[in-house]
Amino acid sequence: MKILVLGSGAREHAIITALLREQPRPSVECAPGNAGIAAEVAVVALDANDPVAVTDYAVLNSIELVVIGPEAPLVAGVADALRARGIAVFGPDRAAAALEGSKTFAKRIMDEAGVPTGRAVRAASLTEAEAALDEFGAPYVVKADGLAAGKGVLVTSDRAAALDHTTFWLEHGSVLIEEFLDGQEISLFLLSDGHTVLPLSPAQDYKRALDDDAGPNTGGMGAYSPLPWLDAQFGSENEFVDEIIETVALPTIRQLATEGTPFVGLLYCGLILTDVGIRVIEFNARFGDPETQVVLPRLLTPLSGLLFAAATGTLGTLPRPEFSADVAVTVVLASENYPQDPLVGREITGLDAALRVPGVTIAHAATATAGDEGGTLVSTGGRVLSVVAVGASFSEARSRAYEALGQVSLEGSHYRTDIAARVA
Ligand code: AMP
Ligand code: GLY
Repeated sequence: MKILVLGSGAREHAIITALLREQPRPSVECAPGNAGIAAEVAVVALDANDPVAVTDYAVLNSIELVVIGPEAPLVAGVADALRARGIAVFGPDRAAAALEGSKTFAKRIMDEAGVPTGRAVRAASLTEAEAALDEFGAPYVVKADGLAAGKGVLVTSDRAAALDHTTFWLEHGSVLIEEFLDGQEISLFLLSDGHTVLPLSPAQDYKRALDDDAGPNTGGMGAYSPLPWLDAQFGSENEFVDEIIETVALPTIRQLATEGTPFVGLLYCGLILTDVGIRVIEFNARFGDPETQVVLPRLLTPLSGLLFAAATGTLGTLPRPEFSADVAVTVVLASENYPQDPLVGREITGLDAALRVPGVTIAHAATATAGDEGGTLVSTGGRVLSVVAVGASFSEARSRAYEALGQVSLEGSHYRTDIAARVA
């Protein structure tokens, strides 16, 4: 099968690594990719957000499946354009991607479908926002309504900070004020063909920049999978997953289908286990980053077959994907000053030594090769590398990941030291 992956981050690198593990190997290319991806597959200098450019390329090059990594191409209508030309695509149309792009839309779908989520009020003015903040009380949760690249959400007990955040995002549209939900967070990915879903194994993401969940929200600083503590609460991972399929995923997918916007792609359920039950914090319309880096290395079922079945409406004919009993941990290496204003263009060294640690792979998030091929590796963004380690236990996977990170040098960079510590 000839597959084109769109995107340039560690998530896309992890997807490509999983595809290349298959026997027989599918033919994979990536647009635009990064230095790590370019070392493994052909990269194409295409604007992944341009529906016409992507579709023309896919037609001309007989691409059989396009896998859309990030949200931006979804919101730009790249999946719509590909489908209109008869190309199989893993990723929802623009209308269904609003599940991620518009928090108001997501809340409405959840209400209609009876999916449990936090109470929320949409505010279009500071006065409305203040009333809602006072109604829910501290800690305050303020969310930008549209896509905000991970910077739209503020959770704080400081009312003045909540109001500042509200004022900033009101200038870009409306905001959502939400009740605070307390509990363990879970990311559960489900493949959807618009009507049926198949679950992947759950993961936990670390959203805050610093150890002990201090510091600002980020795109994600690390993750681990599976979640051993689910067994105590639900009996087993499968029982937990069954409950989410019945109460969250299928009602949502059916509601979208009923409204004429079937969801084909990856339904990312961001969940929180509160004392009074499971609540949805958010949906995303794509694989999560960095959770993908710990879910896919454990996947035993060939990924291309799953993605193709979702893209072509035949998921119902497949059994549930299987996962290895091994565990996986990823730790993200971030640039100096990430997430505020990352300093980029710095040299990265030590990857060869890091890759010699058993069980370790490295998914590149924001890297380029300076100068000619074979030139130095440099950072190009906030999250630079996702160091992934698998092992028989979390203590093994953790020590492998941190041993590998210790080999990597990037001036000013930082990473969390407590990823998966709670399960090791
Ligand atoms: P989101 O972009 O909606 O995933 O929010 C980013 C992060 O903010 C989540 O992963 C949570 O850690 C936190 N968060 C979002 N909504 C809430 C809420 N209602 N209560 C508590 N924490 C929240
Ligand atoms: N790790 C959070 C996200 O992908 O949105």
